[in-house]
Amino acid sequence: MRPIIIAANWKMNTTPSDAGPLASAIAAATATDDVVRVICPPYVCLAPVRDALAGTGIAVGAQDVHPLAAGAYTGEISAGMLTGLATWCIVGHSERRRDQHETDELVGRKLARCLESGLRPIWCVGEQLDEREAGRAEAVVREQVERGLVAGGMANGEWAGSVVIAYEPVWAIGTGRTARGADAAAMADAIRSALEANGWTRDAAATVPVLYGGSVTAASIGEFLAEPAIDGALVGGASLKPDEMAGIVARAATTAAARRAAAG
Ligand code: 13P
Repeated sequence: MRPIIIAANWKMNTTPSDAGPLASAIAAATATDDVVRVICPPYVCLAPVRDALAGTGIAVGAQDVHPLAAGAYTGEISAGMLTGLATWCIVGHSERRRDQHETDELVGRKLARCLESGLRPIWCVGEQLDEREAGRAEAVVREQVERGLVAGGMANGEWAGSVVIAYEPVWAIGTGRTARGADAAAMADAIRSALEANGWTRDAAATVPVLYGGSVTAASIGEFLAEPAIDGALVGGASLKPDEMAGIVARAATTAAARRAAAG
């Protein structure tokens, strides 16, 4: 059975002084063993968030990582630098694809770096609005998966069990407009089928948790968790609000219990 995962992407919000108290408030509002909880603050807030979350069961993630181990790359952060600070890492977020011009090939190399370094990647994929309107959403996302797998040398399913994929339609991010649950579920199926088409066994592909991201709130999470193909959410704006996170994680815990009961 796949875990239910709720990951918070704080993006470029919080400071080293307010991140710890916010993380503590979220921890207090979301206590449960049924849901894998992850908070991804900005790099400079990793240490205070790690300290605030000690003993809460919530993992800490980074929002990006460089594909290389070290070198003359001003301003960049390597996987090794994250040791002791983060155990998860977002890779290929659409805001970085847009603003830092990250390609699927670069994203694949970053995934490989995460996996080699013991960081659990949350690999973000998703189509633009014009691509969905043109009926190309699944083809676009399948291509993102395939190119990332090839560039990361991950086409043999070896990393099943470590990789988490977040389907974040770009038009749903920060817009208040969510995908429909059924469309997100169809995309989750397409993602697992793309893994299978690129060298993964059906069993390996079936172990990969697929999260939905894009304007998720306590009010909207239920539509996604009602879909058996969806295993949680990558939450942006609402993840900065403890009350919203409380509602999201509570709904996720209900889903986790129901799925466990159904699995016997
Ligand atoms: P919002 O929840 O603010 O739409 O952001 C989603 C996202 O990009 C998470 O990575």
